[in-house]
Amino acid sequence: MLRSLSLPPFLLVFAFFWGLVHVSQAQTHQTQATTDPNEKRALNSIFQQWGISTNQEQWNISGELCSGAASATDTSDFDSLSGPNPYIKCVCTYSNNTLCHITRLKVYALDVVGVIPDELWTLTFLTHLNLGQNDLTGPLSASIGNLTSMQYLSFGINALSGELPKELGKLTDIRSFAIGSNNFSGPLPSELGNWTKLEQFYIDSSGVSGEIPSTFANLQNLATVWASDTELTRRIPDFIGNWSKLTSLRFQGNSFGGPIPSSFSNRIAMTEL
Ligand SMILES: *[C@@H]1O[C@H](CO)[C@@H](O)[C@H](O)[C@H]1NC(C)=O
Ligand SMILES: *[C@@H]1O[C@H](CO)[C@@H](O)[C@H](O)[C@H]1NC(C)=O
Ligand SMILES: *[C@@H]1O[C@H](CO)[C@@H](O)[C@H](O)[C@H]1NC(C)=O
Ligand SMILES: *[C@@H]1O[C@H](CO)[C@@H](O)[C@H](O)[C@H]1NC(C)=O
Ligand SMILES: *[C@@H]1O[C@H](CO)[C@@H](O)[C@H](O)[C@H]1NC(C)=O
Ligand SMILES: *[C@@H]1O[C@H](CO)[C@@H](O)[C@H](O)[C@H]1NC(C)=O
Repeated sequence: MLRSLSLPPFLLVFAFFWGLVHVSQAQTHQTQATTDPNEKRALNSIFQQWGISTNQEQWNISGELCSGAASATDTSDFDSLSGPNPYIKCVCTYSNNTLCHITRLKVYALDVVGVIPDELWTLTFLTHLNLGQNDLTGPLSASIGNLTSMQYLSFGINALSGELPKELGKLTDIRSFAIGSNNFSGPLPSELGNWTKLEQFYIDSSGVSGEIPSTFANLQNLATVWASDTELTRRIPDFIGNWSKLTSLRFQGNSFGGPIPSSFSNRIAMTEL
């Protein structure tokens, strides 16, 4: 075949493609950062254990994880219910824009059955984690305390069990914590009183019991507290009246006794007791 081509046009074509390849390589090097290999390994292992298919059109699970939409700074497709699922978001500005870390992970309502693999707790750049509405079982590991960048954490509507680890208290940047409808047991750790940025707290039907720790008086940014159908005993603590930003409170079906604190009466109109 080659011999039948006259030489000059062939060289011309070759030079043209050679140039194309080099231009596109240069562009790739400028724009394409790669996923932290440890995080890539961890995520692939988690998905494998959860039986999540790697055939996904909306997001490049099989190749470079943090490519395309997953590395875009707009996160609205992550938050959207109709957006890609499972899904991740990455921040790719590390090591002079050559390295991506996974900052958001969503595996929502995909009927995932099983425990939470330990590898999840190595994704320490996560700020958003939504594992809601699956069939996750087993306890939350103490290693969850390693995810210190966490801001929005949801395990709602699963079958997780055991006590909440006190290491959760290390997540001091957390804004929203949702474990409603699970099979936990034991008390709320007093360490959660370190969550001073917490705005939303959903523990309804989660199985937690015992009294609300006095350290919760520090949670001055709480706006939404749903704690219905939990076994929280004793009376509603006075300091709830000090949660000055509270707009939604649900305590129905609790084993709370005693009167509603007087500190609270001035805001009863806007809450749902
Ligand atoms: C997925 O990533 C692989 C490896 O980086 C790449 O070769 C492939 O083109 C990517 N696919 C899409 C659809 O982005
Ligand atoms: C970062 O990348 C830019 C452009 O690729 C380069 O000019 C600069 O020297 C790099 N800086 C460091 C600290 O590597
Ligand atoms: C969490 O951090 C502790 C202390 O650095 C470490 O020993 C442990 O292995 C970490 N857990 C995971 C799952 O990486
Ligand atoms: C919840 O946990 C209890 C033991 O603490 C167990 O008997 C029960 O079967 C569990 N329920 C579910 C739905 O996992
Ligand atoms: C959290 O709160 C407890 C007391 O409730 C305290 O002993 C602990 O040092 C605090 N800090 C962290 C990072 O957990
Ligand atoms: C409410 O907050 C005030 C001022 O921050 C404090 O003096 C008071 O002890 C708190 N009350 C309760 C019941 O925690």
